[in-house]
Amino acid sequence: MKTIFSYDKRYLWTKGERSLSKIAFRQLLQTKTKGAVETVRKNLMTHETSVVSLPFASTEEIQSWAFHIQKTYTHLLVIATGGSSLGAQAIIHAIAGSTSKTKVLFLSNPDPDEYRRITKGLPWVTTGVLVISKSGKTLEVLSLFLLVREQLQKKLGKQHTSHLFILTQFDENPLYLFAKEQGYTLLPHVDIGGRFSVLSSVGLLPAAVSGVPIADLLKGAADLLGEYQKQGFSHAVSHFVTAQYLAYTLGKTEQILMPYTERLTLFTKWYRQLWAESLGKERRGRGVGPTPIDALGTVDQHSQIQLYNQGLKNKILTFIELTNFDEESPVLRKIAGLPDAFKEAASPLSLIVRASCRGTACASATHESPGGILSVPKLDAYHLGALFLFFELAVILYAELLQVNPYDQPGVEEGKRQIKKLLSSL
Ligand code: PA5
Repeated sequence: MKTIFSYDKRYLWTKGERSLSKIAFRQLLQTKTKGAVETVRKNLMTHETSVVSLPFASTEEIQSWAFHIQKTYTHLLVIATGGSSLGAQAIIHAIAGSTSKTKVLFLSNPDPDEYRRITKGLPWVTTGVLVISKSGKTLEVLSLFLLVREQLQKKLGKQHTSHLFILTQFDENPLYLFAKEQGYTLLPHVDIGGRFSVLSSVGLLPAAVSGVPIADLLKGAADLLGEYQKQGFSHAVSHFVTAQYLAYTLGKTEQILMPYTERLTLFTKWYRQLWAESLGKERRGRGVGPTPIDALGTVDQHSQIQLYNQGLKNKILTFIELTNFDEESPVLRKIAGLPDAFKEAASPLSLIVRASCRGTACASATHESPGGILSVPKLDAYHLGALFLFFELAVILYAELLQVNPYDQPGVEEGKRQIKKLLSSL
Protein backbone atom coordinates (compact mmCIF):
# COMPACT_ATOMS: atom_id res chain seq x y z
CA MET A 1 0.00 0.00 0.00
CA LYS A 2 1.40 3.43 -0.96
CA THR A 3 2.06 5.65 2.04
CA ILE A 4 3.52 9.12 2.49
CA PHE A 5 6.69 7.76 4.08
CA SER A 6 8.19 4.32 3.89
CA TYR A 7 10.29 2.79 6.64
CA ASP A 8 12.98 0.56 5.19
CA LYS A 9 13.94 -2.15 7.69
CA ARG A 10 16.61 -3.99 5.75
CA TYR A 11 19.50 -2.68 7.89
CA LEU A 12 17.78 -3.39 11.19
CA TRP A 13 18.60 -7.06 11.34
CA THR A 14 22.05 -7.30 12.82
CA LYS A 15 24.19 -10.15 14.09
CA GLY A 16 25.46 -10.34 17.65
CA GLU A 17 24.28 -10.78 21.19
CA ARG A 18 21.80 -7.91 21.36
CA SER A 19 20.51 -8.09 17.82
CA LEU A 20 17.13 -7.34 16.39
CA SER A 21 15.66 -10.33 14.59
CA LYS A 22 12.82 -10.40 12.10
CA ILE A 23 11.07 -13.05 14.20
CA ALA A 24 11.16 -11.03 17.42
CA PHE A 25 10.05 -7.95 15.48
CA ARG A 26 7.04 -9.73 13.97
CA GLN A 27 6.03 -11.25 17.31
CA LEU A 28 6.18 -7.89 19.05
CA LEU A 29 4.31 -6.15 16.23
CA GLN A 30 1.46 -8.64 16.18
CA THR A 31 0.99 -8.84 19.92
CA LYS A 32 2.08 -5.89 22.02
CA THR A 33 2.15 -3.21 19.29
CA LYS A 34 -1.20 -4.33 17.91
CA GLY A 35 -2.80 -4.00 21.36
CA ALA A 36 -1.13 -0.65 22.00
CA VAL A 37 -2.28 0.73 18.62
CA GLU A 38 -5.87 -0.07 19.58
CA THR A 39 -5.58 1.52 23.03
CA VAL A 40 -3.97 4.67 21.59
CA ARG A 41 -6.62 4.88 18.89
CA LYS A 42 -9.42 4.76 21.50
CA ASN A 43 -7.71 7.26 23.82
CA LEU A 44 -6.99 9.76 21.08
CA MET A 45 -10.54 9.64 19.78
CA THR A 46 -12.12 10.22 23.18
CA HIS A 47 -10.06 13.36 23.89
CA GLU A 48 -11.68 16.45 22.51
CA THR A 49 -8.47 18.38 22.37
CA SER A 50 -5.74 16.08 21.24
CA VAL A 51 -3.02 16.07 18.64
CA VAL A 52 -5.36 14.33 16.22
CA SER A 53 -7.85 17.20 16.26
CA LEU A 54 -5.30 19.84 15.25
CA PRO A 55 -4.92 18.90 11.56
CA PHE A 56 -8.64 19.53 11.05
CA ALA A 57 -8.85 22.97 12.66
CA SER A 58 -9.45 26.06 10.54
CA THR A 59 -6.40 28.18 9.75
CA GLU A 60 -8.45 31.28 8.91
CA GLU A 61 -7.91 33.19 12.13
CA ILE A 62 -4.20 32.37 12.32
CA GLN A 63 -3.77 33.43 8.73
CA SER A 64 -5.50 36.75 9.31
CA TRP A 65 -3.25 37.51 12.31
CA ALA A 66 -0.29 36.56 10.16
CA PHE A 67 -1.39 38.96 7.39
CA HIS A 68 -1.80 41.74 9.94
CA ILE A 69 1.71 41.14 11.31
CA GLN A 70 3.20 40.92 7.81
CA LYS A 71 1.52 44.17 6.79
CA THR A 72 2.60 46.01 9.92
CA TYR A 73 6.08 44.77 10.83
CA THR A 74 9.42 44.10 9.18
CA HIS A 75 10.41 41.79 12.06
CA LEU A 76 8.58 39.42 14.38
CA LEU A 77 10.44 38.49 17.55
CA VAL A 78 9.09 35.26 19.08
CA ILE A 79 9.78 34.81 22.80
CA ALA A 80 9.15 31.21 23.87
CA THR A 81 11.04 28.12 24.95
CA GLY A 82 10.91 24.30 24.77
CA GLY A 83 7.86 22.94 23.01
CA SER A 84 6.45 26.44 22.59
CA SER A 85 9.35 27.40 20.34
CA LEU A 86 11.09 24.39 18.77
CA GLY A 87 8.24 23.43 16.42
CA ALA A 88 8.00 26.86 14.82
CA GLN A 89 11.78 27.05 14.52
CA ALA A 90 11.84 23.61 12.87
CA ILE A 91 9.18 24.61 10.33
CA ILE A 92 10.80 27.90 9.39
CA HIS A 93 14.25 26.33 9.11
CA ALA A 94 12.93 23.56 6.84
CA ILE A 95 10.55 25.57 4.67
CA ALA A 96 11.72 29.02 3.74
CA GLY A 97 8.58 30.96 2.89
CA SER A 98 9.15 33.04 -0.24
CA THR A 99 6.17 35.36 0.11
CA SER A 100 6.96 37.20 3.34
CA LYS A 101 9.04 40.29 3.90
CA THR A 102 8.70 39.93 7.66
CA LYS A 103 11.73 38.32 9.26
CA VAL A 104 10.92 35.94 12.13
CA LEU A 105 13.48 35.72 14.95
CA PHE A 106 13.44 33.62 18.11
CA LEU A 107 14.54 34.37 21.65
CA SER A 108 14.48 31.26 23.84
CA ASN A 109 17.43 31.51 26.14
CA PRO A 110 18.15 34.06 28.85
CA ASP A 111 21.80 34.02 27.82
CA PRO A 112 22.86 37.71 27.83
CA ASP A 113 25.10 37.29 24.77
CA GLU A 114 22.27 35.72 22.81
CA TYR A 115 19.86 38.42 23.98
CA ARG A 116 22.25 41.06 22.69
CA ARG A 117 22.93 39.22 19.43
CA ILE A 118 19.24 38.96 18.57
CA THR A 119 18.02 42.35 19.78
CA LYS A 120 20.99 44.53 18.80
CA GLY A 121 19.97 46.73 15.92
CA LEU A 122 16.35 45.52 15.86
CA PRO A 123 14.15 48.28 14.45
CA TRP A 124 11.71 48.41 17.39
CA VAL A 125 9.37 50.76 15.57
CA THR A 126 8.67 48.07 12.98
CA THR A 127 9.09 45.01 15.22
CA GLY A 128 6.16 42.96 16.51
CA VAL A 129 6.71 40.69 19.51
CA LEU A 130 4.93 37.38 19.98
CA VAL A 131 5.23 35.83 23.45
CA ILE A 132 4.18 32.16 23.58
CA SER A 133 3.75 30.37 26.88
CA LYS A 134 1.01 27.88 27.66
CA SER A 135 1.46 28.12 31.42
CA GLY A 136 2.28 31.84 31.39
CA LYS A 137 4.76 31.12 34.19
CA THR A 138 7.97 30.07 32.48
CA LEU A 139 10.85 32.00 34.05
CA GLU A 140 12.98 32.44 30.91
CA VAL A 141 10.02 33.62 28.85
CA LEU A 142 8.78 36.08 31.46
CA SER A 143 12.25 37.51 31.94
CA LEU A 144 12.89 38.00 28.19
CA PHE A 145 9.41 39.44 27.79
CA LEU A 146 10.06 42.07 30.48
CA LEU A 147 13.33 43.14 28.86
CA VAL A 148 11.87 43.38 25.37
CA ARG A 149 8.80 45.19 26.66
CA GLU A 150 11.05 47.79 28.23
CA GLN A 151 12.86 48.33 24.92
CA LEU A 152 9.53 48.80 23.16
CA GLN A 153 8.30 51.19 25.86
CA LYS A 154 11.50 53.26 25.63
CA LYS A 155 11.15 53.63 21.89
CA LEU A 156 7.37 53.87 21.53
CA GLY A 157 5.88 54.86 24.88
CA LYS A 158 2.18 54.03 25.17
CA GLN A 159 2.14 52.96 21.50
CA HIS A 160 4.13 49.86 22.46
CA THR A 161 0.94 48.00 23.46
CA SER A 162 -0.04 47.34 19.85
CA HIS A 163 3.33 45.62 19.22
CA LEU A 164 2.78 42.88 21.80
CA PHE A 165 0.92 39.64 21.04
CA ILE A 166 0.55 37.17 23.89
CA LEU A 167 -0.31 33.57 23.07
CA THR A 168 -1.23 31.83 26.32
CA GLN A 169 -3.99 29.89 28.02
CA PHE A 170 -6.86 32.08 29.15
CA ASP A 171 -6.77 30.68 32.66
CA GLU A 172 -5.73 33.35 35.17
CA ASN A 173 -2.04 32.63 34.73
CA PRO A 174 0.31 35.55 35.54
CA LEU A 175 1.16 36.36 31.91
CA TYR A 176 -2.50 36.32 30.88
CA LEU A 177 -3.58 38.56 33.75
CA PHE A 178 -0.75 41.02 33.18
CA ALA A 179 -1.30 41.19 29.41
CA LYS A 180 -5.03 41.72 29.90
CA GLU A 181 -4.44 44.54 32.33
CA GLN A 182 -1.91 46.21 29.99
CA GLY A 183 -4.14 45.93 26.94
CA TYR A 184 -1.86 43.66 24.90
CA THR A 185 -3.39 41.49 22.20
CA LEU A 186 -4.28 38.10 23.66
CA LEU A 187 -4.39 34.97 21.52
CA PRO A 188 -5.68 31.68 22.98
CA HIS A 189 -3.33 28.70 23.40
CA VAL A 190 -4.99 25.31 22.79
CA ASP A 191 -5.21 23.00 25.76
CA ILE A 192 -2.38 20.81 24.47
CA GLY A 193 1.12 20.64 25.96
CA GLY A 194 3.93 22.58 24.25
CA ARG A 195 5.68 19.64 22.61
CA PHE A 196 2.44 18.46 20.96
CA SER A 197 1.31 21.93 19.92
CA VAL A 198 3.35 22.55 16.76
CA LEU A 199 0.30 22.15 14.52
CA SER A 200 -1.70 24.72 16.52
CA SER A 201 -1.24 28.50 16.50
CA VAL A 202 1.95 27.93 18.55
CA GLY A 203 3.81 26.62 15.50
CA LEU A 204 1.52 27.88 12.77
CA LEU A 205 1.42 31.61 13.53
CA PRO A 206 5.20 32.22 13.32
CA ALA A 207 5.30 29.88 10.30
CA ALA A 208 2.49 31.75 8.53
CA VAL A 209 4.19 35.09 9.23
CA SER A 210 7.29 33.79 7.51
CA GLY A 211 5.23 32.77 4.49
CA VAL A 212 4.87 29.01 5.01
CA PRO A 213 1.62 27.62 3.53
CA ILE A 214 0.22 26.39 6.83
CA ALA A 215 -2.89 24.75 5.37
CA ASP A 216 -0.53 22.39 3.52
CA LEU A 217 1.18 21.47 6.80
CA LEU A 218 -2.20 20.47 8.24
CA LYS A 219 -3.23 18.61 5.10
CA GLY A 220 -0.08 16.47 5.30
CA ALA A 221 -0.73 15.74 8.96
CA ALA A 222 -4.39 14.88 8.28
CA ASP A 223 -3.46 12.51 5.45
CA LEU A 224 -0.81 10.79 7.59
CA LEU A 225 -3.39 10.35 10.32
CA GLY A 226 -5.90 8.92 7.84
CA GLU A 227 -3.34 6.34 6.69
CA TYR A 228 -2.47 5.40 10.24
CA GLN A 229 -6.10 4.99 11.24
CA LYS A 230 -6.69 2.71 8.27
CA GLN A 231 -3.53 0.64 8.57
CA GLY A 232 -2.99 0.51 12.34
CA PHE A 233 -0.20 -1.86 13.26
CA SER A 234 0.80 -2.34 9.60
CA HIS A 235 1.59 1.35 9.18
CA ALA A 236 5.16 2.69 9.07
CA VAL A 237 4.62 4.49 12.42
CA SER A 238 3.87 1.16 14.11
CA HIS A 239 6.84 -0.55 12.43
CA PHE A 240 9.16 2.28 13.42
CA VAL A 241 8.01 2.20 17.06
CA THR A 242 8.19 -1.58 17.22
CA ALA A 243 11.81 -1.48 16.06
CA GLN A 244 12.71 1.28 18.53
CA TYR A 245 10.99 -0.47 21.43
CA LEU A 246 12.44 -3.88 20.57
CA ALA A 247 15.89 -2.31 20.45
CA TYR A 248 15.23 -0.65 23.82
CA THR A 249 14.32 -3.98 25.42
CA LEU A 250 17.63 -5.35 24.10
CA GLY A 251 19.58 -2.58 25.83
CA LYS A 252 19.81 -0.25 22.83
CA THR A 253 18.63 2.72 24.81
CA GLU A 254 20.23 5.46 22.70
CA GLN A 255 18.05 6.33 19.74
CA ILE A 256 19.60 8.48 17.07
CA LEU A 257 17.73 10.46 14.45
CA MET A 258 20.01 11.35 11.53
CA PRO A 259 18.46 13.19 8.58
CA TYR A 260 20.47 13.55 5.40
CA THR A 261 19.31 17.10 4.83
CA GLU A 262 20.44 20.27 6.59
CA ARG A 263 16.86 21.49 6.45
CA LEU A 264 15.84 19.03 9.17
CA THR A 265 18.52 20.02 11.70
CA LEU A 266 16.02 21.92 13.85
CA PHE A 267 13.41 19.23 13.32
CA THR A 268 15.75 16.82 15.11
CA LYS A 269 15.94 19.24 18.06
CA TRP A 270 12.13 19.20 18.17
CA TYR A 271 12.18 15.36 18.01
CA ARG A 272 14.75 15.19 20.82
CA GLN A 273 12.57 17.28 23.12
CA LEU A 274 9.40 15.39 22.19
CA TRP A 275 11.05 12.03 22.82
CA ALA A 276 12.85 13.04 26.02
CA GLU A 277 10.04 14.84 27.85
CA SER A 278 7.40 12.34 26.77
CA LEU A 279 9.23 9.05 27.38
CA GLY A 280 11.84 9.67 30.08
CA LYS A 281 9.77 8.89 33.16
CA GLU A 282 9.69 7.05 36.46
CA ARG A 283 7.61 3.91 36.31
CA ARG A 284 6.88 2.18 39.59
CA GLY A 285 9.90 3.88 41.16
CA ARG A 286 12.32 3.01 38.32
CA GLY A 287 13.57 5.31 35.59
CA VAL A 288 12.67 4.24 32.05
CA GLY A 289 12.87 5.68 28.55
CA PRO A 290 15.28 5.86 25.63
CA THR A 291 17.76 8.71 25.19
CA PRO A 292 17.10 10.61 21.95
CA ILE A 293 20.13 11.89 20.09
CA ASP A 294 20.16 14.22 17.11
CA ALA A 295 22.71 13.85 14.35
CA LEU A 296 23.14 15.12 10.80
CA GLY A 297 24.23 13.34 7.65
CA THR A 298 26.72 13.52 6.10
CA VAL A 299 28.49 15.81 8.60
CA ASP A 300 28.27 13.41 11.56
CA GLN A 301 29.78 10.58 9.53
CA HIS A 302 32.99 12.43 10.35
CA SER A 303 32.13 12.80 14.01
CA GLN A 304 29.56 10.52 15.67
CA ILE A 305 29.57 7.46 13.42
CA GLN A 306 32.86 6.14 14.82
CA LEU A 307 31.23 5.99 18.25
CA TYR A 308 27.92 4.62 16.96
CA ASN A 309 29.70 1.80 15.14
CA GLN A 310 32.48 0.84 17.51
CA GLY A 311 31.44 2.27 20.85
CA LEU A 312 28.93 0.69 23.22
CA LYS A 313 26.41 -1.50 21.40
CA ASN A 314 23.52 0.42 22.89
CA LYS A 315 22.30 2.35 19.86
CA ILE A 316 19.65 2.22 17.17
CA LEU A 317 19.68 4.70 14.31
CA THR A 318 16.97 6.18 12.18
CA PHE A 319 18.20 7.76 8.97
CA ILE A 320 15.94 10.19 7.15
CA GLU A 321 16.51 10.03 3.43
CA LEU A 322 15.17 12.85 1.29
CA THR A 323 14.54 11.29 -2.09
CA ASN A 324 14.05 14.57 -3.97
CA PHE A 325 15.88 17.78 -3.17
CA ASP A 326 14.32 21.11 -4.17
CA GLU A 327 17.46 22.13 -5.98
CA GLU A 328 18.94 20.27 -8.90
CA SER A 329 22.47 19.09 -8.22
CA PRO A 330 24.92 21.41 -9.98
CA VAL A 331 26.29 19.77 -13.12
CA LEU A 332 30.04 19.57 -13.62
CA ARG A 333 31.44 20.05 -17.06
CA LYS A 334 33.40 17.06 -18.32
CA ILE A 335 36.97 17.28 -17.07
CA ALA A 336 39.48 15.12 -18.84
CA GLY A 337 42.30 13.43 -16.99
CA LEU A 338 40.96 13.65 -13.44
CA PRO A 339 42.93 11.49 -11.03
CA ASP A 340 41.12 8.32 -9.88
CA ALA A 341 40.56 9.71 -6.41
CA PHE A 342 38.19 12.29 -7.92
CA LYS A 343 36.05 9.77 -9.81
CA GLU A 344 33.31 9.41 -7.15
CA ALA A 345 33.66 13.03 -6.10
CA ALA A 346 32.47 14.06 -9.56
CA SER A 347 29.07 12.40 -8.93
CA PRO A 348 25.98 14.61 -8.56
CA LEU A 349 25.62 15.90 -4.97
CA SER A 350 22.22 14.28 -4.50
CA LEU A 351 23.73 10.89 -5.39
CA ILE A 352 26.59 11.41 -2.96
CA VAL A 353 24.10 12.17 -0.18
CA ARG A 354 21.89 9.18 -1.03
CA ALA A 355 24.84 6.79 -1.25
CA SER A 356 26.19 8.18 2.03
CA CYS A 357 22.90 7.50 3.81
CA ARG A 358 22.51 3.96 2.47
CA GLY A 359 26.21 3.12 2.81
CA THR A 360 26.31 4.37 6.39
CA ALA A 361 23.20 2.38 7.30
CA CYS A 362 24.70 -0.75 5.78
CA ALA A 363 28.02 -0.26 7.59
CA SER A 364 26.31 0.45 10.91
CA ALA A 365 24.37 -2.80 10.65
CA THR A 366 27.60 -4.75 10.25
CA HIS A 367 28.74 -3.18 13.53
CA GLU A 368 25.62 -4.28 15.45
CA SER A 369 24.11 -0.80 15.28
CA PRO A 370 20.76 -1.37 13.59
CA GLY A 371 19.40 1.39 11.40
CA GLY A 372 16.03 1.97 9.75
CA ILE A 373 15.63 4.37 6.85
CA LEU A 374 12.62 6.66 6.74
CA SER A 375 12.16 7.90 3.19
CA VAL A 376 10.70 11.36 2.68
CA PRO A 377 9.80 11.98 -0.96
CA LYS A 378 10.02 15.79 -0.79
CA LEU A 379 10.49 18.41 1.91
CA ASP A 380 7.58 20.80 1.43
CA ALA A 381 4.95 21.96 3.93
CA TYR A 382 2.73 18.96 3.18
CA HIS A 383 5.43 16.40 3.93
CA LEU A 384 6.73 18.32 6.93
CA GLY A 385 3.23 18.38 8.48
CA ALA A 386 3.02 14.62 7.94
CA LEU A 387 6.46 14.18 9.51
CA PHE A 388 5.42 16.04 12.67
CA LEU A 389 2.38 13.83 13.03
CA PHE A 390 4.43 10.71 12.30
CA PHE A 391 6.68 11.40 15.30
CA GLU A 392 3.83 12.54 17.57
CA LEU A 393 1.88 9.35 16.92
CA ALA A 394 5.09 7.38 17.35
CA VAL A 395 5.86 8.87 20.75
CA ILE A 396 2.29 8.31 21.98
CA LEU A 397 2.44 4.69 20.84
CA TYR A 398 5.89 4.21 22.36
CA ALA A 399 4.59 5.62 25.67
CA GLU A 400 1.80 3.07 25.60
CA LEU A 401 4.32 0.25 25.14
CA LEU A 402 6.48 1.65 27.93
CA GLN A 403 3.41 2.25 30.10
CA VAL A 404 4.22 5.90 30.86
CA ASN A 405 2.21 9.10 30.48
CA PRO A 406 3.62 11.03 27.48
CA TYR A 407 1.89 14.29 28.33
CA ASP A 408 3.40 15.27 31.70
CA GLN A 409 6.93 16.26 32.77
CA PRO A 410 7.11 15.98 36.58
CA GLY A 411 10.90 15.58 36.39
CA VAL A 412 11.45 19.27 35.60
CA GLU A 413 9.53 20.65 38.60
CA GLU A 414 12.23 20.16 41.24
CA GLY A 415 14.75 22.09 39.11
CA LYS A 416 12.27 24.96 38.74
CA ARG A 417 11.78 25.08 42.52
CA GLN A 418 15.53 25.17 43.16
CA ILE A 419 16.12 27.95 40.59
CA LYS A 420 13.35 30.04 42.12
CA LYS A 421 14.78 29.51 45.59
CA LEU A 422 18.24 30.62 44.46
CA LEU A 423 16.95 33.69 42.62
CA SER A 424 14.79 34.84 45.50
CA SER A 425 17.68 34.49 47.96
CA LEU A 426 19.94 36.80 45.91
O1 PA5 B 1 6.71 20.60 25.87
C1 PA5 B 1 6.51 21.13 26.93
O2 PA5 B 1 5.46 20.95 27.58
C2 PA5 B 1 7.54 22.08 27.50
O3 PA5 B 1 8.73 21.99 26.80
C3 PA5 B 1 7.02 23.50 27.42
O4 PA5 B 1 6.70 23.83 26.09
C4 PA5 B 1 8.06 24.50 27.93
O5 PA5 B 1 8.44 24.18 29.23
C5 PA5 B 1 7.50 25.93 27.91
O6 PA5 B 1 6.32 25.97 28.63
P1 PA5 B 1 5.30 27.13 28.48
O7 PA5 B 1 4.70 27.09 27.12
O8 PA5 B 1 4.29 26.92 29.54
O9 PA5 B 1 6.08 28.43 28.68
